[in-house]
Amino acid sequence: MKKLFLAASITSLMLTACGTYDETVEQNNQQVAEKKDQHKVTRKDGVTYVDGHLFVNKKVGLPSEYAPGENVKARMQLDRMIQESRQDDVNLVFRSGFRSYETQQQLYSSYVAKDGQAAADKYSAKPGHSEHQSGLAFDVGSANASDDFKTSFVKTPEGQWVKDHAHTYGFIIRYPEGKEAITGYQYEPWHLRYVGKDLAQTIHNEETTLEEYFEFGQ
Ligand code: DAL
Ligand code: ZN
Repeated sequence: MKKLFLAASITSLMLTACGTYDETVEQNNQQVAEKKDQHKVTRKDGVTYVDGHLFVNKKVGLPSEYAPGENVKARMQLDRMIQESRQDDVNLVFRSGFRSYETQQQLYSSYVAKDGQAAADKYSAKPGHSEHQSGLAFDVGSANASDDFKTSFVKTPEGQWVKDHAHTYGFIIRYPEGKEAITGYQYEPWHLRYVGKDLAQTIHNEETTLEEYFEFGQ
């Protein structure tokens, strides 16, 4: 009997120390909600995924042997986008897509030789760190090519059209203006990354980056 009384007193003391029952339930619910908001990072064969989306940036790399080629679904959406842009008299064109680790290595070395490493690192990914190696990234341009691969591309009808419509096809502008410190790269209004329509819409609405949205990779 004495033991039972002692146990009850300790329980009631603990409840008092931890707050009321309602407060505890509320805290638990909040923890569950916070857990739901957390993004799930997984790794498979050296490739990193956040919430199932392949993730690659300056800090998170891809294995050198990872060579999936062009993602078929992403390329289909790109082609559809280019085709439909014609209805608005826009001469959007495909410029580049999948690049292997080796191709990126050659490109990066040539940029370093031309401009020096510090400058090259602002516009080119090191081998193993390019989204082009994922098969999910594409560079687009204008048919007349005068502003291709330049920040001035955004001022062309094609650049404007991409800015306004790419998300509806599942693409994001991966390296936006004003986010250089976050992505590590200069503004590339021509570089599109396929993430699917839902995430592309969110990233577009929130004017954010994958790093910020996933709270990962910085
Ligand atoms: N220009 C982008 C950053 C790349 O090299 O993948
Ligand atoms: Zn690119």
